Amino acid sequence: MLSLRAVFRGKRVALRAPRVSDAPRIVEIRSWSIEFLRPWVPVPGPDELDVPLARARILRDRRDIRADRHYRFCMTLGEDGPVIGRVALTQVFRGIFQRAALGYWVDVEHHGQGFTTEGVKLALDVAFRELGLHRIQAAIMPQNAASLSVARKCGLQHEGRAARYLQIAGAWQDHLLFAVTAEDWPAAPP
Ligand SMILES: CC(C)(COP(=O)(O)OP(=O)(O)OC[C@H]1O[C@@H](n2cnc3c(N)ncnc32)[C@H](O)[C@@H]1OP(=O)(O)O)[C@@H](O)C(=O)NCCC(=O)NCCS
Repeated sequence: MLSLRAVFRGKRVALRAPRVSDAPRIVEIRSWSIEFLRPWVPVPGPDELDVPLARARILRDRRDIRADRHYRFCMTLGEDGPVIGRVALTQVFRGIFQRAALGYWVDVEHHGQGFTTEGVKLALDVAFRELGLHRIQAAIMPQNAASLSVARKCGLQHEGRAARYLQIAGAWQDHLLFAVTAEDWPAAPP
């Protein structure tokens, strides 16, 4: 089981479980990035835009980690710096699957600086080394060049296309399916 106190450090960013004290910062960056994120991720729920509801959501996120259901990490600048985005391993299936879905976003002030690539590599390392997962999958809209670039830089392989896969920005959007399995994950940590 992953400790809620675990911190996974890269060169410039770190991943850790969300803390209740993160709620104001998460609401702040989700709010000021709303236009930046709108074309690519689901419409934010009230628990992403309201501090008391965000606190309750964080408590649920922490329960999900303890239950091995979803790992919605905060990505921070350095180990003790501000939260700048989220990297998540969700919908964990054990048994004969041992898989999870990968998702990520960074706030509008920190995109384009390689932070998410580093955060996703950390998450893949957690997935394969700490959680013992075998397969990590991501679904990306074909026109999302930045996300496609992150996936490729992190070693995810294009596997196919899913028609009208997710409802984003009010419409059912086709997505490209990417995945990486433990066999292809490099031995060297990021
Ligand atoms: C996708 C996202 C997480 C990338 O975060 P980031 O921290 O900017 O990612 P990085 O800086 O590590 O890498 C981005 C890469 O995309 C490239 N890129 C960015 N915008 C691009 C564009 N419009 N066209 C082509 N490439 C682009 C960058 O040049 C960089 O590649 P490089 O390092 O080879 O130059 C961020 O853009 C985001 O939050 N987008 C909205 C949410 C989202 O799309 N989430 C993923 C859903 S599948």
